[in-house]
Amino acid sequence: MKKDYTIFITRQIPEAGLQILRKNFKNVIVNTKDRNLTHDELVKNVRGVDALLCLLNDKIDAEVIKNMDKCKVISNYAVGFNNIDIVEATKRGIVVTNTPGVLTDATADLTWALILAVTRRIIEADKFVRKKKFKGWAPMLLLGTELAGKTLGIIGAGRIGTAVGLRAKGFKMKVLYFNTNRNETLEEEVGAKKVSLDTLLKNSDIITIHVPLTPKTRHLIGEREIKLMKKTAYLINTSRGEVVDEKALIKALKNKRIAGAGLDVFEQEPFVPDELLKLENVVLTPHIGSATFEARTKMAIVAAENIVKVLTGKIPANVVNPEVLKSSKL
Ligand code: GLV
Ligand code: GLV
Repeated sequence: MKKDYTIFITRQIPEAGLQILRKNFKNVIVNTKDRNLTHDELVKNVRGVDALLCLLNDKIDAEVIKNMDKCKVISNYAVGFNNIDIVEATKRGIVVTNTPGVLTDATADLTWALILAVTRRIIEADKFVRKKKFKGWAPMLLLGTELAGKTLGIIGAGRIGTAVGLRAKGFKMKVLYFNTNRNETLEEEVGAKKVSLDTLLKNSDIITIHVPLTPKTRHLIGEREIKLMKKTAYLINTSRGEVVDEKALIKALKNKRIAGAGLDVFEQEPFVPDELLKLENVVLTPHIGSATFEARTKMAIVAAENIVKVLTGKIPANVVNPEVLKSSKL
């Protein structure tokens, strides 16, 4: 029996998730526009819905949440949930869920794609061939940096940071990590060492960021931190743009204060500063960490199942505001 609930989905997602929702609920509404909704459109569309399935670039702020007169669950189609005002949702008894786990490998792979692309100058090399500049093998053509024997510094050793660190074994790299808790998997599997942020910055050849965006991690990497890095170091960010002070990073890249960067995320997405576009020593991708068919399909299934659980009175697998469950009837 389909339940008489209304689910609003802010943008087309893989069919696997929609099928689960359509099987369980009578009214499954998907934004048919091939773009994200504006703030005003969000406010209008959330009225009267029982569940909202939204994207990491839908800003679900207090104003949007105040218009959710019936909503019981906000299911974010992402692992990060900095786009949602969790305090306001919790105050109104709305469960917020995310999609951890299923995009870990995809994001770890993209992190390594950026590491390899920037250290081996893949984008420059590809352009070189396309411009018909390849006139024959040459001893000094497009030299890059080798990874074996170098040190990978992982800032934030959660699921994704761990997956990135485990892949370092294949590249024969040493691993340092900065994290609140000890990470026994990384220590046992790759001999990783837990260090302070400053020690990591001073000693790593590749620094990769895997923390969530919170008030504490905003601009975690700023001018002071970049100054601690080796001149030959590379910074990789596949987490959230705001974790890095983009202006300070651009300055460092321009002045060759560090060797390069691989960035999948930016401070004011989708805006990317012209200065970054002009630099040769950066590789830029448009927030595609989880962009594999496999991950996006699984994310759709998890996001849909989280809604089904809440609306059928069960506890979903991935609740980001568990406090709300104590006061609810779930
Ligand atoms: C991607 O950035 C995510 O948070 O899922
Ligand atoms: C997110 O999935 C993380 O824990 O890194």
